[in-house]
Amino acid sequence: MAVIKIRNTNEVIQGTEEVKAFLESQEVLYEKWDMSKLPDHLKERFDLSDEDKQEILNSFDDDIRSLGERRGYVNWDVISLSESTPNLEELLKKFENVHTHTDDEVRAITAGHGIFIVKGENGYFDIELEAGDVISVPEYTPHFFTLMDDRQVVAVRLFIDTEGWVAHPYEEKEYKL
Ligand SMILES: [Fe+2]
Repeated sequence: MAVIKIRNTNEVIQGTEEVKAFLESQEVLYEKWDMSKLPDHLKERFDLSDEDKQEILNSFDDDIRSLGERRGYVNWDVISLSESTPNLEELLKKFENVHTHTDDEVRAITAGHGIFIVKGENGYFDIELEAGDVISVPEYTPHFFTLMDDRQVVAVRLFIDTEGWVAHPYEEKEYKL
């Protein structure tokens, strides 16, 4: 279950309905996928072959197509980050810059954890995600992503158009990591 931490107030929001309501108020879509659909041999695995990634997509095909039809996402893939990822440190440094996109950023976590830090109407808030959590950060919303203490994640990404999904740096004067 996702947990929200509001940076200005240290407020913590937990519970599926509470998290969903808060994220809705910030225009961030939040849904849950049933992780029992994931075959056992892919649970908490991070070093994935192309066949493994395709099997993850096949396992959640109904969920992917349902979300895609509702929101206009037409492409999808699987990303895995862990200690076995070459240049993990470099990648994380890149991810930890505040930026925007011209399309939604959609992630369904299927293993491990990740945090999206998003600029809301009252400052930045953290969304801590675990397997089963699905979010869509709206276009033009400043945000960044990092890993949690386990330093590993697998996520399904959905796109309106892979060409349009580019990070644009966001000049943030009031905020430091
Ligand atoms: Fe992003």
